[in-house]
Amino acid sequence: MAEPLTVLGIETSCDETAAAVVSADPHPRIRANLIHAQLAEHAPYGGVVPEIAARAHLDHIDGLIERALAEAGIGLDRIDGIAAAAGPGLIGGLIVGTMAAKGIAWGARKPFIAVNHLEAHALTVRLSDGVDFPYLLLLVSGGHSQLLVCAGVGHYRQLGTTRDDAAGEAFDKTAKLLGLGYPGGPAIEQAAQGGNPARFALPRPLKGRSGCDFSFSGLKTAVQQMIADRPPRNPTDISDLAAAVELAICDTLIDRTANAVAWFRRHHPDGTSLVAAGGVAANARLRHRLAALAEAAGLAFVAPPPALCTDNGAMIAWAGLERLRLGLTDGLDAPVRPRWPLDGNVMAQTETAAR
Ligand code: KG4
Ligand code: ZN
Repeated sequence: MAEPLTVLGIETSCDETAAAVVSADPHPRIRANLIHAQLAEHAPYGGVVPEIAARAHLDHIDGLIERALAEAGIGLDRIDGIAAAAGPGLIGGLIVGTMAAKGIAWGARKPFIAVNHLEAHALTVRLSDGVDFPYLLLLVSGGHSQLLVCAGVGHYRQLGTTRDDAAGEAFDKTAKLLGLGYPGGPAIEQAAQGGNPARFALPRPLKGRSGCDFSFSGLKTAVQQMIADRPPRNPTDISDLAAAVELAICDTLIDRTANAVAWFRRHHPDGTSLVAAGGVAANARLRHRLAALAEAAGLAFVAPPPALCTDNGAMIAWAGLERLRLGLTDGLDAPVRPRWPLDGNVMAQTETAAR
């Protein structure tokens, strides 16, 4: 029997150092998925410090790769490709991860795959649940909020994006205002348990308007103003405010996604799934609301398990594997791209076709 296709994936685009080994034999299988979250390194600063992140990646990356290969029980000789996140993200971290991957690829004479971190989030649901193209994707992370049609590997059409902050940023910034620490999403979700979201009226930017764009900066300003006027005095105040923030962000995401669902049903009658990905998709309230929205529209709702929604190495390995089996590998001179829009390829193709 042929050996399963196997890829080593490396993630260093923000504050998680991660290495994983994923196979398709032919079903996807995560053979190792190790992560070092740099929470302690950044905690004193209340957010991610790029220079500290880059140094921490350097400290941890070699050990993580070695342990991932050992846990997977596989030598480099049986790895078919080395994938690393090459963007978008913090340039120092991206350089550490891609240089490690390129060094291994060169030494072991294996193909290198430069993975778009957003594409990795977009494809994770094919690793976890085997979802077929096309599907509608709500991609919500610390740096991005987008609605996309995923039509195939490398084929994405953006229906909407944020005009200011990303959804994860809205969680992180309001959590900081509430003194709940970083990352803000899980902190708000936990603080909101049992809170009364109706006690504080917060805005739902763009709600009820046509289109699929998002806006979150008004929400942060409203929370800032509210706290300045009436500082929270006890755990109940914090819990109620956290619940109000979580509900406002979910309401906004659901309203914009509903417009995208209507568009997707009209233009892709063959599509059967609404998918959520990215760190914010780990949020239980959001997952429930999206499931109800999908059900009402006759779509299945699928999201990876929470640990595969937040940044991880398995998603990079999987995206690398999907690209490798289509022959989409990269040279060792492939650049890192701090900015790397996901639908760039498709737009270029559309432009070429229109000429
Ligand atoms: O995808 P991710 O791990 O990193 C980026 O690519 O940005 O997303 C991180 C973001 C952070 O803003 C974090 O606060 C948010 O995802 N997040 C959550 C939850 N877990 C992580 N937001 C809401 N609820 C959660 N449970
Ligand atoms: Zn991410």
